[in-house]
Amino acid sequence: METSEASTVNPSAPGNVSLDRPNPPSTSACSDTNEQKYREAFANACRCIAPQMRSFEEELSRQLTSDNAPIDRVLKYVARLGGKRLRPALTFLTAELFGPTTDETMRLAMVVELVHTATLVHDDVLDDSGLRRHQPTVHVRWDIPTSILIGDWLFTHAYGLANAGESTLPGRWIASAAKRVCEGEIRQNQSIANWELSQEEYFEILSCKTGALCGASCAMGAWSTAAPITRCEALQSFGNKLGLAFQIFDDWLDIWGDQAPSGKTLGTDFEHDKPTLPWIYLLGNLSPADRQAWLEKYHVSPSHAKAELMEMLKQSDASAYTLGCAKGFAQSACEDLRRAVNGFDLSQRQSQALKALEEIAKASVARIG
Ligand code: IPE
Ligand code: IPE
Ligand code: MG
Ligand code: MG
Repeated sequence: METSEASTVNPSAPGNVSLDRPNPPSTSACSDTNEQKYREAFANACRCIAPQMRSFEEELSRQLTSDNAPIDRVLKYVARLGGKRLRPALTFLTAELFGPTTDETMRLAMVVELVHTATLVHDDVLDDSGLRRHQPTVHVRWDIPTSILIGDWLFTHAYGLANAGESTLPGRWIASAAKRVCEGEIRQNQSIANWELSQEEYFEILSCKTGALCGASCAMGAWSTAAPITRCEALQSFGNKLGLAFQIFDDWLDIWGDQAPSGKTLGTDFEHDKPTLPWIYLLGNLSPADRQAWLEKYHVSPSHAKAELMEMLKQSDASAYTLGCAKGFAQSACEDLRRAVNGFDLSQRQSQALKALEEIAKASVARIG
């Protein structure tokens, strides 16, 4: 199973075509970000919910258990190295905007992280990725059937939890978000090798595959502390845009990021002919005749055409453009956040949560892993 970077793509391609990933641009996010800085920013932002995040970790290992020893082993493996816990943090912080977090908040934070984990286990099969959270992916460590079924286990467990309360709303919210994630993944899969994909279509796909779950994390957090539904919806929009910004940046990392601190396989988007924003921008900037010529070349010899595109990328401002778009969505998310609390007389605790959400939005577009 593939675990290396895109530099090894098409080793047998005619003419020894090079698809080396470019060095990070000197003025890029890499120069003003590092893993340490992101972790610090995220940890700082989460300081006001530190006790909840600690209890969350304990509860998560309780949830990821099975009476069947082989299944339990896989669940423990999935739980072992954790992740950033972005989505549960969003749930706790949006809950804090309206009142102290409750048992409902913990339950829903668990739901979003379990759904997220399920999507990652499935995504790594789809993307043929060998590394996740600094360890071999489930299908590499075990096999594809195990990955599919553990992903299904996680999804199903999450739906059970979402429906464990009196209201059916969380169940409907998470089902709708998870369906959108699947739609985003399907649409992305259908867009493989479609180098005519527009920026609008690309943003829509990202809004489904990553925005929807971040949106639900925020809406359900606020709902768990009895926020009015219009406020929940405004926060859903905040989360959606934050997720979109986060994913644009993640696609940037796939090209210019450093695999070691990220802990996952990078370079797979281009390797698998997935048109992400830098490529869409680059091709969109060509004249219609040049674009057509490139598409024809791609049709005849994908590896040569891609090598040419990689060279164009190195000479272009596609990195800065992509980072600019990610930052633009993060800013717009923060405007929605302000609208969600418009007219509130915020207590100190609520102000802290608000500031933390803003910091997370900013940090999401300047991170390494
Ligand atoms: C990875 O999400 C998938 C994307 C949406 C880019 P995270 O970067 O939040 O993954 P973990 O949970 O921290 O591993
Ligand atoms: C992650 O997407 C999966 C979902 C958002 C559902 P990607 O494939 O773009 O992200 P990584 O790089 O594997 O984390
Ligand atoms: Mg993917
Ligand atoms: Mg992937």
